[in-house]
Amino acid sequence: MMSKQPNINTQVNCYPLIYASGHNGEQEKLPTVVNEQLAVVSDLIATHHLPIKLDYQPSNIKLSQKNRQKLSEQYQQPLLIIDEKGQLSLLIEGMSVAPNWASLQRRIVSAGRKSELLLQASKLTSESTVIDATAGFGHDSLILASGGASVSMLEQQPVLALLLLAEQQKMAKEKNWQKLMARLNIVCIEASDYLALKSTQKVDVVYLDPMFPDDSYENSQTGKGAKVGKHMQALHGLVAPPNLQVQRQLLDNALSVLKQGGRVVVKRPVNAPNFAEQMADESWQNAVIRFDGYFARGI
Ligand SMILES: C[S@@+](CC[C@H](N)C(=O)[O-])C[C@H]1O[C@@H](n2cnc3c(N)ncnc32)[C@H](O)[C@@H]1O
Repeated sequence: MMSKQPNINTQVNCYPLIYASGHNGEQEKLPTVVNEQLAVVSDLIATHHLPIKLDYQPSNIKLSQKNRQKLSEQYQQPLLIIDEKGQLSLLIEGMSVAPNWASLQRRIVSAGRKSELLLQASKLTSESTVIDATAGFGHDSLILASGGASVSMLEQQPVLALLLLAEQQKMAKEKNWQKLMARLNIVCIEASDYLALKSTQKVDVVYLDPMFPDDSYENSQTGKGAKVGKHMQALHGLVAPPNLQVQRQLLDNALSVLKQGGRVVVKRPVNAPNFAEQMADESWQNAVIRFDGYFARGI
C-alpha cells in the first residue's frame, strides 16, 4: 500500500505546524486525536523520506476560520494545521485545504461511475494500471481507482504528498475503504523524473491534470465561466502552470510508458488550448472541462 520508492525531490522545506493544544500547550494534556495525528505526521515524513522540516507550535486559541486568517497573515507562508478534531490541513493564503476522500463516496460507488467523464475517457477495467502523474488532492485518483484499477499517484510537492499519505492512512482504517486504499500507491516525485526511470513498468493509462492559469475556465467569447474551486485556488499559491517545454516533456514521457492500446488522458478547461500544442486523438467534454486522449503510438 505504501511506496518504498526513493524520493528525488530533496530540497527541504520548513513549515510551521500549528496544533490545537489542551491547556497551556502541555504535551500530556493534548487531546488524544491531536497527539495521534502528530505522531502520524512525523512517522510519514520519516518513512517516506519527505523533505519536510516541521516547526511545531502548540496553539491555545481555537483554530476557527477567523483565527486561521490571522495565522496566515502573521506567518505569510503556507502552514500545516492539526485542529481540535485531529484533522490535518494546509493553510495557505487564508484557505484551509485537505484531501476529503470521504466526500467522494457517492461518486465512487458503481451507480455514479457511468456519469464520470474521466472514466469514459480512460476506458479502464478492473485489471488496469494507471499513473496519475499530477495527484494533487487525489480526488481524480480515487475516481480512477473506483472500478478496481491500481493507481500510482505522483505528487511533486512534499507537503501535498504528506496530506495524501495522511488521508490514505486515515481512510484505510474504515473497513469499506480498505480495498480501495490498498490499490493506491503514493509517491513524492516529479512526474517526468519518475516516468523516465528505466524501471518504470508500462501502464494502461497515464493521467495528467496539470495546473492551468486560474482564469482558464472562462469562456473566451463571453468572459464568463466556472470559478476555480477552493482547492485549486490554494494550489495556485504553491505550484505554477507548466510552460510549453515542460508540457512537451511530460506528454512524451507519459506516452513512453504506455502498454500497447494504452492512452494518456489530459484534463483541460473546456476552452483551453491543446496541452503541449498537440492535438488529441479523441476528446470527451462537458460545459466546463475536457478530457483529451492521446493513444499509444505504434509499438
Ligand atoms: C491541478 S492539481 C491536480 C488535482 C488532482 N487531479 C485532484 O483531483 O486533486 C495539479 C497537481 O499536480 C502536481 N504536479 C504538477 N506537475 C507535476 C509534475 N511534473 N510531477 C508531479 N506532480 C506534479 C501539482 O503539485 C499539483 O498538486
